[in-house]
Amino acid sequence: MDLFSLVCVLYITFISVCLAIIFLADSDVLTFISAHFGKAPEGEYDGKVVWVTGASSGIGEALAKELARCNAKLVLSARRKEELERVKTECRGINPSLKDDDVLVLPLDMVDLESHEPSLKKILNQFGKLDVLNGGGQFGIVSSAAGKVGVPNSGTYTASKHALHGYFEGLRMETYGQNIDITMLCPGPVFSGVLQNACTSKPGEKVNQQQLPTDKKMTAERCAYLCLVAMANRLNESWMSPLPVIPFLYLNAYQPYLASKIGKLMGKQTFQKIRDNRDTLKKD
Ligand SMILES: *[C@@H]1O[C@H](CO)[C@@H](O)[C@H](O)[C@H]1NC(C)=O
Repeated sequence: MDLFSLVCVLYITFISVCLAIIFLADSDVLTFISAHFGKAPEGEYDGKVVWVTGASSGIGEALAKELARCNAKLVLSARRKEELERVKTECRGINPSLKDDDVLVLPLDMVDLESHEPSLKKILNQFGKLDVLNGGGQFGIVSSAAGKVGVPNSGTYTASKHALHGYFEGLRMETYGQNIDITMLCPGPVFSGVLQNACTSKPGEKVNQQQLPTDKKMTAERCAYLCLVAMANRLNESWMSPLPVIPFLYLNAYQPYLASKIGKLMGKQTFQKIRDNRDTLKKD
């Protein structure tokens, strides 16, 4: 075989493997490779102090538990103190070597800006350091597939997730060379309380939908594991979702024109079904 043919064969093999991962795995290619050949979260977060916001439910709760398994010291924040205490108890159940003061329950309302600094002081008082979320440390930002593409009938959600990318890509540039890693985590549909609490077009009204075990979604545990793999391997961005979100995100990133044509053919209902992964919301 001459050199040219060899290069062609290698290239075609490479593309085929990438395509296979894109269509068969539940994450993007780099996250898949990191999960199989990269650093394991267990080694990376052992003994580290990690502040988890939104830790009272959903992906945040699952992240806290996965970190407990990795033997990290935890700061759990959200608005509901009782729920945080429950998560703390469950974390210590998962990893009995975590002592009472290895897990700090720190109720916090993110929009109460005044409370941020006193909260950080409390953490530094208890642990003397903060490894994930602070200067010379690491940020893991829970964005969404909706931070990468538009999702119909989720305007404010899509807008706020896109805003996270703008904010943290800016911060990434500001902090070049300061030993700060930022990982944007973009899950597709995940089992969580989001459908219960999501707003409708009427002010104050909530969707109040229970998710069903038959829904085609990723579990919060799997999502949390992949998030920690991405963070342990210092990936800048990571996507995790069941089909067909990952191939669509790739198409949108590399062939936006084709993606918009396909999006138009698929129609708004199809996107909404992918978001909810079932037909119950079809009537509206
Ligand atoms: C990730 O971000 C860092 C800056 O924080 C940059 O140096 C690096 O090239 C980026 N990696 C990729 C794969 O884009």
